[in-house]
Amino acid sequence: MQKEILIREMELNDLDQVYELEKRSFPNPWPRYFFEGDLREKNTVALVVEYKKKIIGYALGKYEDNKFHITNIAVDRAYQSRGLGRALMKRFEDAGRRNLCRFLYLEVRKNNLQAINFYRKLGYQIDSICRYYYINGDDAYIMKKELL
Ligand SMILES: CC(C)(COP(=O)(O)OP(=O)(O)OC[C@H]1O[C@@H](n2cnc3c(N)ncnc32)[C@H](O)[C@@H]1OP(=O)(O)O)[C@@H](O)C(=O)NCCC(=O)NCCS
Repeated sequence: MQKEILIREMELNDLDQVYELEKRSFPNPWPRYFFEGDLREKNTVALVVEYKKKIIGYALGKYEDNKFHITNIAVDRAYQSRGLGRALMKRFEDAGRRNLCRFLYLEVRKNNLQAINFYRKLGYQIDSICRYYYINGDDAYIMKKELL
């Protein structure tokens, strides 16, 4: 499988598959126009994981001054725990370092223990809480990883 996996930049053509995966992955999925908007912004880094022409993962982030903000990441359930999430996050970390970002950060639903453990494993720490961050009123943790 390893050899047939490709991580590449997301294109507008990928959005049908990306959006299907988004809906399967989150209780409150992003609307499709969020992806379209981000893809058109030049400070966005948007990646997909492709396996046999199928999108099995994606991640979006953006440069904000000297920070890198990870805004979305998901790996198809059938392909989780094989290092694909880690590989996507490594791309962001490398991009952040190349652009002299001081740190990377992200929001994660307080009850999303799977993702919190995943980020912890990659060296992210809880920095603060953002109350009522999600549309259904859930709080978010802001997690952060220093680069410098
Ligand atoms: C979070 C997510 C992207 C992780 O992707 P993944 O491809 O399964 O993660 P990886 O296989 O690269 O795991 C990387 C590390 O995190 C750890 N990890 C991953 N899932 C974990 C879990 N459920 N519990 C504990 N640790 C976990 C792994 O042990 C691994 O460490 P290792 O390489 O030392 O074994 C994936 O679970 C997902 O898409 N979840 C649903 C969407 C979501 O919640 N996104 C985050 C929104 S903030």
